[in-house]
Amino acid sequence: MADAAGIILSVIGLVLDGILGIIQILPIISVVPQGAQSIVRIAAGLHEEEKLGGDIPGITVWNENGKRLGSVKQSGQIEAGSFADIAVPQTPPGQQPTYLRIEGGKKSICVAYIGHAWSDGTQLGWLGDMGSQCGKQFYYSDVIVHRSNGTQYKPQCTWIGGTGSSADWTTQMTIHTPHFSAMSADNGFSVPADTSTLCNQPATIWSNDPVVSSGANKRLGLFGFFSIASLLTAATDFKLPALTYSLRAPQIPFEGTIIGSHHSQHNSTALCSNRLSYGPDFVSFHEGIFCDMHNRRTLPLCDSTIQSDCYDWNSHTIIGRRLKKRKMRYYTVTEWT
Ligand SMILES: *[C@@H]1O[C@H](CO)[C@@H](O)[C@H](O)[C@H]1NC(C)=O
Ligand SMILES: *[C@@H]1O[C@H](CO)[C@@H](O)[C@H](O)[C@H]1NC(C)=O
Repeated sequence: MADAAGIILSVIGLVLDGILGIIQILPIISVVPQGAQSIVRIAAGLHEEEKLGGDIPGITVWNENGKRLGSVKQSGQIEAGSFADIAVPQTPPGQQPTYLRIEGGKKSICVAYIGHAWSDGTQLGWLGDMGSQCGKQFYYSDVIVHRSNGTQYKPQCTWIGGTGSSADWTTQMTIHTPHFSAMSADNGFSVPADTSTLCNQPATIWSNDPVVSSGANKRLGLFGFFSIASLLTAATDFKLPALTYSLRAPQIPFEGTIIGSHHSQHNSTALCSNRLSYGPDFVSFHEGIFCDMHNRRTLPLCDSTIQSDCYDWNSHTIIGRRLKKRKMRYYTVTEWT
């Protein structure tokens, strides 16, 4: 197999809070697939079911003209913080699978990144940062993407799959990967002036169609799919009115779970106040803030100067006024570096 080392990918991601830019990364997949297949790598930042992991999505690929080249059904499970490589057979072999559909399973995962290696040596990527940018539910992730300058980047993740049916939930998405990345380290590839074009077709088609257990064995052509998907997504445009939103309730899948992060880009206040965030309670050590995701309430962490109305990370206790204590029953505590 040919070695893809030496290549640098330019991928669209969050360079500042809420601002998209180009992130130069090393290739996500280090081999060029041989023969009549491409390889899709999907990294999960989180999964909704605590014990079993989330479902590895089904994949369908099309060429630039909308001809379906091949697909793979959902199969197996993926753990938070790990990835799955999915070999997608295609006919005919040499064509470029520029459109990629990710079809989530019943147990949702929060996708931190997708890499797609084609048999001609091309590799493109997509970062989970796009979800919140496109008005879809997201969370922070602890998944590292290696920047070409040696530093590490942790993209947000975008929820996909599961039983959610609100307009901002995603069960499937079809992405045209050349809109999101290029194999280059120069400035030839850029973020479009109107970033909402990245959220609409042909760049992306979001769907909250209920997950079906029959998997990815659909025979729809891309253009048939486009017209159906555009009906589904007609009401889910880029900016949704904030006032009509009610939290996706109940947040029971994450009850008893908390994540504490030392990463400087992870901001509890921002996560807690973003109506699109979905996931466990969160602590940003950098910011010194705890977020109760269910009630969307933040508290400072207790320290030598803050000793009431604060959250004590060591004992997982909320210290209220007059030192009234409420012990939180977390059975899963995860600390991200
Ligand atoms: C690597 O690149 C990122 C993004 O441009 C930048 O913020 C960071 O300072 C760079 N780090 C080094 C060591 O050059
Ligand atoms: C966290 O986010 C809030 C709200 O978006 C912002 O006001 C604050 O400056 C951020 N804090 C840090 C440490 O980045």
